[in-house]
Amino acid sequence: MKLAVISDLHGNYYALAKVLAFLRSQEIDGIIGLGDFVTDGPFPQRMMRVLREMQEEFPCYLVRGNREEYLLENIRHPQNWKAGSSTSGLLDYTFRNLTGQDLEFFEHLPTDGVLVGKINESGRLIPVFVPQEEITPDTCRESLFPALRLCHGAPGELRGNFGLHPELLLSHLKNLDAAILLGGHSHKQEQREYAEKTYLNPGSLGLALDGVGGHAHFAILTLENSTWQIECFQIPYDLEGYLAEFDRAGLETHGSVLARSLKRTLTCGVNYFYLTVKRVRELADALALTDLDEEVWKKAEQELK
Ligand SMILES: [Fe+2]
Repeated sequence: MKLAVISDLHGNYYALAKVLAFLRSQEIDGIIGLGDFVTDGPFPQRMMRVLREMQEEFPCYLVRGNREEYLLENIRHPQNWKAGSSTSGLLDYTFRNLTGQDLEFFEHLPTDGVLVGKINESGRLIPVFVPQEEITPDTCRESLFPALRLCHGAPGELRGNFGLHPELLLSHLKNLDAAILLGGHSHKQEQREYAEKTYLNPGSLGLALDGVGGHAHFAILTLENSTWQIECFQIPYDLEGYLAEFDRAGLETHGSVLARSLKRTLTCGVNYFYLTVKRVRELADALALTDLDEEVWKKAEQELK
């Protein structure tokens, strides 16, 4: 059995289309998706279309990321996002370009769970997703392949960040019922072993922080002799073509400085998206302004040039 693991697509339908074309040549049995499917790229409907094609073609086991959570939170409690604002313009743009059906799809995605092996009616070994609330002490024990724990950041914590809190990763691995913990969120491809368990972050498919840019990161798990063999991939996609879509969508008029920071991050694989947000917060604090002030964003952008 072969399962692809993808995460942090961030609306990059160019990268997703390229990875799907590759997976078609690999006799994949299914795709595990660890969240952040949308925001903050151009034409969200194009991303939704490729995501739908992916689900029609492959059995998919998907969990929700924090970006989907932001969008859903905006339904529960409107966040006053504004078009053209560096602070919220890109989220506003994505939200306005998704349909009620798209948001309902994200609403129904589980946040956590395990993937276990079971025999189906035709006697074939298949992966079955068990959501967090239905996991029992026997769930992983009875799995017919080493069970896989799925989450976006950390188990039970959508925004859990193992990059910032390595001790959190070790404690999760120590207490893990499954054999492998699969998580994304940091956008950095990583594999670690601890307490006879494995942590795998497949990296970011659509916004990889690899110091290179223009590459889609993902992994493939292959079941061999009752063990998962892990292979990590970084494949180039048409970055120029994707960036041209930013202009066609007029993304800078929607997201201003943050849209430019996103382009820069895609181009070089350094997290200017986050660095800009961080610098804006520092400047806003020092100047007793709010991060809604576009002048603060422009100043941060200049400093990071
Ligand atoms: Fe992400």
